[in-house]
Amino acid sequence: MKSIRVGLVGCGTVGTGVARILLENESLLKARVGADIQLRRVADIDLKKNRGIRFDKGVLIEDASEIVDDPDIDIVVEMIGGLGAAYDLILAAIKNGKHVVTANKALLAVHGNALFSAAFKKGVDLAFEASVGGCMPVIKTLRESLVGNRIESMIGILNGTCNYILTQITREGMTFKEALAQAQAQGLAEADPTLDVEGHDTAHKLAILSALAYGMTVNLKDIYVEGISGITPLDIDFARQFGYTVKLLAISKNFGNRVEARIHPTMVPENNLLSGVNGSVNALTITGDRVGDMMLYGYGAGMMPTASAVVSDIVDLARNLLSGSRPLRIPMMSYQKNHIRKLPVVPIGDIYTHYYFRFSALDQPGVLSKISGVLGKYGISIQSVHQKGRKTNGSVPVVMLSHKAREKDVVSALSKIGAMDVVGAKPILIRIEEEVQQQ
Ligand code: HSE
Repeated sequence: MKSIRVGLVGCGTVGTGVARILLENESLLKARVGADIQLRRVADIDLKKNRGIRFDKGVLIEDASEIVDDPDIDIVVEMIGGLGAAYDLILAAIKNGKHVVTANKALLAVHGNALFSAAFKKGVDLAFEASVGGCMPVIKTLRESLVGNRIESMIGILNGTCNYILTQITREGMTFKEALAQAQAQGLAEADPTLDVEGHDTAHKLAILSALAYGMTVNLKDIYVEGISGITPLDIDFARQFGYTVKLLAISKNFGNRVEARIHPTMVPENNLLSGVNGSVNALTITGDRVGDMMLYGYGAGMMPTASAVVSDIVDLARNLLSGSRPLRIPMMSYQKNHIRKLPVVPIGDIYTHYYFRFSALDQPGVLSKISGVLGKYGISIQSVHQKGRKTNGSVPVVMLSHKAREKDVVSALSKIGAMDVVGAKPILIRIEEEVQQQ
């Protein structure tokens, strides 16, 4: 029986998961692929760590070049992460004619163009299903299953750590810090958790998805990013009272000649499917012009969900090799190279959406009319107002929901209101997404 030989570089959390699936599900994979997928070498700087795997002698090595330069290895799996060594490793593997699998969304979001071009020139595949959404087959869905659709929008939860943290704050009343520590203990967070909580990991993923869905080049800097570290239990509680749940959403909309691509904490109606997505689960609603709304749901982080997606890529490449199929049969970025365009991303100031505002205002006659006067001057129409509690000579939270307004106007109005004597701390703004799939 023919063998496909795999070299794995980086045996941390996800790398260990990949090795375990290849070894523990060896016969299952053989039955499905019709060949051996042989884990020939695993390179890691830590040879002593207990991974719960008994590798055959000589499999676990320290030097990754023994994989990249080994002419017998067909597929190199990059699991080291980061932008430096991983970039060099992938380029070297491509140069040596190897197909590559990676889960490295940061690297693809920043250096994807260079890496895909190098792979294209060499005629090898660079597969990256695990870079977005863990076990959810989102890349395959966009590139293959929905190939007959014009993608109109993608709205979802793409960071397990943030979703876990927001869920714990909402359900258990935990502090942000306590919830983050728990997420880290479960192996969900990135090595640098600010990538998760400040929204950058989600932005990397949305950059990849927008490029695939709309056939565009995405400059990461054009994506508006706001994380969850400023979200307080107070706002989560108000959201609940208004019938909303707070989620870190990745929002991408295709207007034909321009797109929206933004990441920020968002209030979603409680009857929305996304509001029921809890813990480290990810979910993505994709709207296609032929299928309408569809949704993917599954664990977006952690050892096995991510490793499962990596293994699906290994199997795809193995099947190509076994069938003699031409590499690049499916364009890596979903579109033929000459059809990939530059599309402007709408600046955040120009988006229109609904808003939640919280002002810390003096509880005095006339204060509400002063606030609403400024909002009115900027063309912001109020949908509802709540004042909670009563304090003589003190500040109380005044909460408002607006109709659709332009962000630029909202920011100007809030800055004017924030400067008023009757308003204490900086006003809080959370965007509301009403246009999402209902239950
Ligand atoms: N840190 C990421 C998350 C891991 O929490 O979703 C998967 O990309």
